[in-house]
Amino acid sequence: MQIILCDDANQVAAVAASWFQTLLAQKPQAVLGLATGSTPIKLYQQLIALYQQQQISFAKCSSFNLDEYYDIAAEHRNSYRSFMQNQLFDHIDIDPERTFLPSCSSQDNPRLVGQAYERQISTMGGIDLQILGIGSNGHIGFNEPTSSLNSRTRLKTLTEQTLKDNSRLFTKDEIQPTMAMTMGIATIMQARYILLLATGKSKAEAVKQMISGPVSANCPASILQMHQNAVVILDKEAASLIEEQSYLRNAANENQRLISRYGLNLGDL
Ligand code: F6R
Repeated sequence: MQIILCDDANQVAAVAASWFQTLLAQKPQAVLGLATGSTPIKLYQQLIALYQQQQISFAKCSSFNLDEYYDIAAEHRNSYRSFMQNQLFDHIDIDPERTFLPSCSSQDNPRLVGQAYERQISTMGGIDLQILGIGSNGHIGFNEPTSSLNSRTRLKTLTEQTLKDNSRLFTKDEIQPTMAMTMGIATIMQARYILLLATGKSKAEAVKQMISGPVSANCPASILQMHQNAVVILDKEAASLIEEQSYLRNAANENQRLISRYGLNLGDL
């Protein structure tokens, strides 16, 4: 696991955006794994700015989102499809036909939807770079604590903590979905690179468990300890419980030099 310590959320976004630039310079047809939530919004703003400055193009990319609420209309203002359109897709040159979310209505068989999503990811060649946030309970995607570390895309019931964390986005008279389709932990782990972004004090404990706790289904993000190319990008508050910070800074600088020299490792999955 590579840990990059940043001063603030703007720097977290800038560092993450530079990974996209490196990736797309090396592989313009990259397959991107995307996330919703508050954390990646600044990253998406940076990507839009880079696109407007003609420093990056998504024209040949495809994208797969981590998750989507169960049985929510794509046009609903709180669907993750709407989030992605508003925060990113409507402002860049990605082909809308190649942006995928694991949408599942009550008319669909969730098991078949999950299997089809997995097949589609494989057909496109697998995810090159997966963006993740982290829940205050250590979830990644909507793989809540106790999720199988070997899970694949499926329907998950959200925990009270997650419902509480996300309730700010729903008005009193809107029904907040309690289930979501999510990539599984094994699906996420198959990405060639993973960038997990965390900002703010509320993530500090989950970040500590992810980095230095045991690998455990109680903190699904801890599985990233087993990934060959997992990069965790933190602001000061999210990193406040992490030890050995000077070693981590040195190691991150060395890793950056290696990537500048040899490029990303985008070989076979
Ligand atoms: C979003 C997702 C979630 C969020 C996590 C953090 O697609 O899968 O795992 O990344 O809940 O959310 P924020 O960034 O809102 O704190």
